[in-house]
Amino acid sequence: MALLTKKPKAAKAATPKAKAPAAQTKREIAKDPLQQMAKDHLWMHFARQSGMESGNGVPIITKGVGHHIFDSTGRKYIDGLSGLFVVNAGHGRKRLAEAAAKQAEELSFFPLWSYAHPSAIQLADRLADYAPGDLNRVFFSTGGGEAVETAFKLAKHYWKLQGHPMKTKVISRNIAYHGTPQGALAITGLPGMKAMFEPLVPGTHHVPNTNIYRAAEQGYMGEVTDELFGMWAANEIERMIEMEGADTVAAVFLEPVQNAGGCFPPQHNYFKRVREICDKHNVLLVSDEVICAFGRIGEMFACNAFGYVPDMITCAKAMTSGYSPIGATIISDRIYEPFKHGQVSFPHGYTFGGHPVSAAVAMENLDIFEEEDLNGNVRRNAPAFKATLEKLKDIPIVGDVRGAGYFYGIELVKDQKTKETFNDDEAERLLRGFLSKALYEAGLYCRADDRGDPVVQLAPPLTIGQPEFDEIEQIMRDVLTRATNLL
Ligand SMILES: Cc1ncc(COP(=O)(O)O)c(C=O)c1O
Repeated sequence: MALLTKKPKAAKAATPKAKAPAAQTKREIAKDPLQQMAKDHLWMHFARQSGMESGNGVPIITKGVGHHIFDSTGRKYIDGLSGLFVVNAGHGRKRLAEAAAKQAEELSFFPLWSYAHPSAIQLADRLADYAPGDLNRVFFSTGGGEAVETAFKLAKHYWKLQGHPMKTKVISRNIAYHGTPQGALAITGLPGMKAMFEPLVPGTHHVPNTNIYRAAEQGYMGEVTDELFGMWAANEIERMIEMEGADTVAAVFLEPVQNAGGCFPPQHNYFKRVREICDKHNVLLVSDEVICAFGRIGEMFACNAFGYVPDMITCAKAMTSGYSPIGATIISDRIYEPFKHGQVSFPHGYTFGGHPVSAAVAMENLDIFEEEDLNGNVRRNAPAFKATLEKLKDIPIVGDVRGAGYFYGIELVKDQKTKETFNDDEAERLLRGFLSKALYEAGLYCRADDRGDPVVQLAPPLTIGQPEFDEIEQIMRDVLTRATNLL
């Protein structure tokens, strides 16, 4: 382990500066103790270590203020992704830090294993209030993958208690991401992310998603209207249930707006039809709102924005705006009912699930949401945000701009008319070779993603408005225009 004898220069260079300093050179990176410790010891998530190994360094983010972040050289960026769809209330909120400190002083830790503590109780009560229908019971975890894992296990357990031990399978959508635990990963619809971990939990099946821009590629053959495509995509779930046998299917896991692939909102009729199908076949509907909850779509829970009541909601990320980790699975009275009696218990839990500090921070964060009407801000401004981003369509490689609320994906194509996409080599050169770095260097932290077709994703803090939409559009315009000229 490398030991620091004195404070590294990099750690104190984080204050905002009027003029952005230049990015670190390779020689500066080699002399930077934090960069060296990262190179020697840090394994980053979902990332190629080769960049760091070759001495290029890694962006080290040291400070956040509002919708901006700062790196270790003092350079300032718009946080166009709220960290990772997390910092919805923005960075640097002192009162959230104070809520954490107050709770840590009072009761730093206690588990929810047969005992309880006030902050988890109060947060459960509040989440149940925000949730639709009879979703009144909250099972806490520490993040989104665990919330999904909990819902998966609970669905299987529920059906066993109901006398349907064979109802164990799960249906989800192509390209959807639901987390990394082996159950959640099995539900994930990204084969490339799963291959090296097979065999995973068996019995997960994938159906088309709501990407209407790529309707034909998904096997849809009719006239492409919102109505017809939405009905077809929902009916594909029914087709899968019937193919597998309803008596073997436990649940359907769907995000309100699918993230991976680049923000696929549902068609207006999609969830109504999905709910009918689930009811008809006695299959549970799980709304995976790890990204979409807490204002991303302008409501505390996005199912409320799209008018459906699921049987369970999974959520995490922005519940605390990232000031402390927590996840939750919110469960309907119907699913909870058999667990109320006698000696039945759900043999599942996490040491840190519903951590007192995180729960206290979540309460304070949700107070901020209400006091500042962050959800209202999103609802009022979402059309203007979308319209501003749609201006980018005059750039030849911009194929589609889609999303909802403060959550957008910009799909890049080789040919706007034919929608021809980039091959793997081209996508690699465009996204990893140029765009990610160029956007960042131009002052916008966002995500260039190639898990489906190449997209740039935006999910900024919910506090911003038109001036920031324009700033984001200008940066993207400049970088995407340069990308077009490179091709
Ligand atoms: C829809 C969805 N479900 C689950 C997860 C997993 O959450 P976590 O990374 O907190 O485990 C994510 C993460 O991005 C997600 O987007």
